Amino acid sequence: MLKYTHKSDLEIYEIVADELKRQEHNIEMIASESTASLEIMELSGSIFTNKTLEGYPGARFQAGSHEADRLEILGIERAKQLFGAEHANIQVYSGSSANYGVYAAILNPGDKVMSMRLDQGGHLTHGSPVNFLSKVYEYHFYGVNEKTEMIDYEELEKKAEEIRPKLIITGGSSYPRLIDYERISRIAKSVGAYFMVDMAHVSGLVAAGVIPSPVPHADFVSSSTTKTLCGPRSGFILCKKEHAKAIDKGVFPGSIGSMHLTTMAAKSWVFKHAASDEFKNIMRQVLANGKALAEELASRGFRIVSGTTDNHIVMVDLRSKGISGKVFQNALDRVGITVNKNQIPFDPASPFVTSGVRIGVTSITQRGLKEAEIKIIADIMDRVASAPEDETNIMSCKKDAENLILNFPLYPAGSFED
Ligand SMILES: Cc1ncc(COP(=O)(O)O)c(C=O)c1O
Repeated sequence: MLKYTHKSDLEIYEIVADELKRQEHNIEMIASESTASLEIMELSGSIFTNKTLEGYPGARFQAGSHEADRLEILGIERAKQLFGAEHANIQVYSGSSANYGVYAAILNPGDKVMSMRLDQGGHLTHGSPVNFLSKVYEYHFYGVNEKTEMIDYEELEKKAEEIRPKLIITGGSSYPRLIDYERISRIAKSVGAYFMVDMAHVSGLVAAGVIPSPVPHADFVSSSTTKTLCGPRSGFILCKKEHAKAIDKGVFPGSIGSMHLTTMAAKSWVFKHAASDEFKNIMRQVLANGKALAEELASRGFRIVSGTTDNHIVMVDLRSKGISGKVFQNALDRVGITVNKNQIPFDPASPFVTSGVRIGVTSITQRGLKEAEIKIIADIMDRVASAPEDETNIMSCKKDAENLILNFPLYPAGSFED
């Protein structure tokens, strides 16, 4: 691994080598993570890193674009086919960059936007007060029903009628349930708003056809490629043909500079791979593992936000266990299980402490873990929650976690040997 860096910069080499070891030995359950294939690794570090290019095929600002044109045209066609979209922009750098591209395409400063509250499942780039967007556009937020912890569509509709936003956004980073895209699309139409779905978290599940697609209902669909799509650190935008020109302009020159052809190659590989039976089977198992984890944790006295999950995210309310998200995250980290503390709807605790954790099952599913192993993980989590500061308990849980995960290699043996 890294044979040249190994010779020229041992310090950096060692950090990367240690990270590989950490990932191999840990049960990674951060919901926004996945494991990139060796092809994605290879393409992300390819010769295309040397090429600077702006514009679109047929209208470039630099010469020497013949191969890059072939790449971008192929990637766009694959993305369109995979998601059944009329137009795709694959130049954006990430999920955040995809959202900025849509805003740049259709909004003017001061325009009204409606999106899901960050602390009830939304995302920073949907206008959170801590993101610079909140200074540019006028954001209004909808949330979830306190009882069901699912999107309150009636409140959303009422607010939309009252505010009459130019854009309504849905999709989130910690929303574990299906979203009724058709219903929100109808609401958006009735108030003359554009409708954008940020499917960053669920795009792999959508690609595999195991959950409904927002594409037929939304004007714009944005996504990152790292989450359930299991791709490189990048993003893309899908839209109807009528918005194609505006979106392309919103992306370049509207919100990015030269494109990253390395990750463009890697995501284009993913747009083909995600149509394979192998990928579809993994996504089916992701759904099964999510449900199994929610059930196993609930049966051990954890409260599951909204009662279950319809995707790869399980949101856990830890108040029934008398510990905070911060304490649980840190204790699990010592055990070798990686999750993140996360506010739950109507959380009385601050975002730095939280009453909950967000748990994702994509990476472990890619490694081959199924329901039997989920049961073992839930059991370890329960033991950790029962005594998060007891050293003997933590060490015993760590041993069990490591014994479990080492049966499921992160990459085939020898993948990184030179
Ligand atoms: C809903 C949503 N949108 C956008 C993003 C940002 O994606 P990226 O990290 O690729 O910029 C995230 C990341 O967590 C997300 O959850």
